[in-house]
Amino acid sequence: MQLFIDTGSVAEVEEVAGWGVLSGATTNPTLLAQGDDAPEVAVHRICELVAGPVSAEVVADDAAEMIAQGRALARLHEHVVVKVPFGAAGLAAASALAGEGVGVNMTLVFSPTQALLAAEAGARYISCFMGRLDDISVSSEEVLAAIISTLRPPSGARSALAGSAQVLAASIRHPGHVIAAARLGCDVATVPAKVLRQMLAHPLTSAGIERFNADWQARPELSQWMSQLLAGAEPLAAAR
Ligand code: E4P
Repeated sequence: MQLFIDTGSVAEVEEVAGWGVLSGATTNPTLLAQGDDAPEVAVHRICELVAGPVSAEVVADDAAEMIAQGRALARLHEHVVVKVPFGAAGLAAASALAGEGVGVNMTLVFSPTQALLAAEAGARYISCFMGRLDDISVSSEEVLAAIISTLRPPSGARSALAGSAQVLAASIRHPGHVIAAARLGCDVATVPAKVLRQMLAHPLTSAGIERFNADWQARPELSQWMSQLLAGAEPLAAAR
């Protein structure tokens, strides 16, 4: 499963991109409104940092306006994927944009029927919001499992479009959501920086690093051996 970062903050992408784990990013109007940079600056910089698909969302009610906004967003950077909210207008816009070769992320998908329609409209990504489902006591895992089995029936009798659409787990609130998404077979999870940082942490990792460092430093000649190794000198004899 690929990991995207879910943010409108360039600083957060700068922090996490260095870990080497990101394949893309998602923004939404709320996240960009909370960011420090103008939206076009943030989207462009995030595209450069992640070097992969970056979703930027249209904010319109009718299909024609969504298509116009989508074309303009796609011109911001070659990595931009246009995020379109689910609905009749969204499906029409997704179909038109996909027909022009623009990557579409259909967002606010909460059921297998919506996912099937989004796939048939040509969406490259189908975003299902785990946190918002769990918030209303609907099991996000059950919904995601139903979406995945609908788009990829075991019989193999799937349409070409449904088969190529990628299921993207969004609205991730904690590391457990990420693990559930991976186990269910989601193609992508888009994860806030806060949750990505939580995924780093384990007390046994911290304790293990502390112990390794202490054991190494207890023998100063080993540090000298490492310095010689780094300098390209013949190091092995020093530590014997
Ligand atoms: C990303 O694609 C979604 O817009 C985002 O994950 C929504 O997250 P939220 O439900 O925490 O706002």
